[in-house]
Amino acid sequence: MEVKISGHTFEYDIIGMSLLFFPGDPVRFCARPKEKQWLSSRLHLKDGSAVAIATYRDGERTYTCRKKAWSIDKEGLLGAVKYTVYQVFHRATQISPPWGILTGIKPTGIYQRILAEKGPKDAREFLIKNYCMQPKKIPLLHQICKVMEGVKTDCEKEASLYVSIPFCPSRCSYCSFISVAAERCNHLIEPYLEALYREIPEKCAVLKKHGLKLRSVYVGGGTPGILNGEQMSRLLRAICNELDAPLDEFTYELGRPDTVTKEKLQILKEMGVTRICINTQTTNDEILEAVGRRHTRKEYLNAVALTKQMGFASINTDLIAGLPNEDEQSFARSLEDVFEAGVDNITIHTLSIKRSSYLHDDKEQFDPRKDRVRRMLDHAYERLLSKGYIPYYMYRQKNTVSNGENVGFARPDTIGLYNLFMMEDLHTVAACGAGASSKIISGSSGRIERVINMKYPYEYIRENEKIQRNTALLDQKLGER
Ligand SMILES: C[S@@+](CC[C@H](N)C(=O)[O-])C[C@H]1O[C@@H](n2cnc3c(N)ncnc32)[C@H](O)[C@@H]1O
Repeated sequence: MEVKISGHTFEYDIIGMSLLFFPGDPVRFCARPKEKQWLSSRLHLKDGSAVAIATYRDGERTYTCRKKAWSIDKEGLLGAVKYTVYQVFHRATQISPPWGILTGIKPTGIYQRILAEKGPKDAREFLIKNYCMQPKKIPLLHQICKVMEGVKTDCEKEASLYVSIPFCPSRCSYCSFISVAAERCNHLIEPYLEALYREIPEKCAVLKKHGLKLRSVYVGGGTPGILNGEQMSRLLRAICNELDAPLDEFTYELGRPDTVTKEKLQILKEMGVTRICINTQTTNDEILEAVGRRHTRKEYLNAVALTKQMGFASINTDLIAGLPNEDEQSFARSLEDVFEAGVDNITIHTLSIKRSSYLHDDKEQFDPRKDRVRRMLDHAYERLLSKGYIPYYMYRQKNTVSNGENVGFARPDTIGLYNLFMMEDLHTVAACGAGASSKIISGSSGRIERVINMKYPYEYIRENEKIQRNTALLDQKLGER
């Protein structure tokens, strides 16, 4: 589609809106659209108020919408521009994306701000009227914000640590994370761990210098379960050496069920790990094989049973809605299997497509008119609530099927603290390893800064000086808070 904009520079947001209605269709900005399908988006500022106008031509018909911005700060102006674009696309296609004009990663942040300003009733109306949100999404946001309010952390005194193990036994076909398959890169694991043993104490020393005490640690992947017992034990010792007081939560993402052994679980238990992630994504054996996961439903159930016997405080399982060839019944069965396994946390992800060209190639699967995945999610939320799990964090990724979201559910006394601290920017997270991104949160101004390590393990092993510069940057940014 050709797009002409004037009076604003919200190109990126227009692309986001277009993706909701026309996934996979490229957007081309130009001064004079010549094709049959085009959009014009304008913003007029005059005498302290602003009006957005969108016109969409789909070849035969023309749709126009205008809206006065509800405020003239960036949020109000952008809101009005997105609103008008939403309306013309919606009228032309009859598609109603569940999150309305909210295309960002964290709808909870926006909801919290509006809730604080207007109270629950007016916030709801405001979101439906101005953000075009579907009413059924609002209770989910509200519940999550209520849980968040109950979790207290002092941003000036507390922080968390993330340790990245970006190796997997094999690559899952759908995976959108940077990780290397160990069958080809096994030889990198030892030097990678050596580099981590340098970075972990350095980053922790910086946190201490700024008076920050660790509240939670998350060892994530990739598949950290890929480490053998000895490697695991040494890594955990390197982390524990930095702890002056017990953690509130220590998560180790074993990841694939086929990496779980009694020996490893014993080591994790002895070293004070409290929360374990064992993911299955689906329990449909045919789909597991098709996406390149080398475990079965039975292995998942056995792995969780073994972990439960060891008495960890909490076990998490990830599921993905929208895997190729998974229908609603199969996804619902996977969820029942996870209930049967008896885990404490269940995180429901919506499949996100790695390359947006897939959206174009497989128009049928990603057609926003078809809400197969939406129904999977709705069913899952209903079942989870009826089983006593509450939603406690949420984020959205780009290019998800049916524009779906990712939501973490937990039994009320087992909320995954790290997920909340990190996703909701409640306090600083120092992150070690390849692909790790440290976030420095300033409590007084709410400013968020990032220090990002290099993506790939081979770079991380080689470029120790760059890592040290990143640690110095963390130090500097903490000092400037
Ligand atoms: C960083 S991955 C690590 C998972 C771990 N390697 C395993 O196999 O269990 C964390 C989670 O992200 C989710 N995930 C990965 N790729 C995804 C995609 N393309 N769309 C949606 N969720 C995805 C999966 O649920 C996964 O468990």
